[in-house]
Amino acid sequence: MPNDAPSADPEHVLRVHDGARWHRLPAPHGANLRRVLLRHELSPYTRWTRRLNCGGRGLCATCGVRFDGDAPPPRHWHDRLAARFGYPRLSCQIAVDRPLAVRLLPDKIIWGRRA
Ligand code: FES
Repeated sequence: MPNDAPSADPEHVLRVHDGARWHRLPAPHGANLRRVLLRHELSPYTRWTRRLNCGGRGLCATCGVRFDGDAPPPRHWHDRLAARFGYPRLSCQIAVDRPLAVRLLPDKIIWGRRA
């Protein structure tokens, strides 16, 4: 059952699938998901968009990830549209407020092309 209420735990465990295997990462409550991923060298970007992105401003849609199960509610207009229409969620616009299972998308379509 989905739970939209954020947890008060000071730290959460993220399970992240990189396309080959699962990783377990600690994340402080409220941490930005994109930053946590990059800090642990699990990039939400493709090899092309790693350098060509908006830097976490919610503009380029290249940092998309998917969730298995429960996910934080969207708070940014672009991420809200992604959630509404079933597109990958913008990791740069997500604050970690609960344990999450995150799937990176190494073969995603970026700007109309497989990147
Ligand atoms: S880094 Fe550009 S939308 Fe997330």
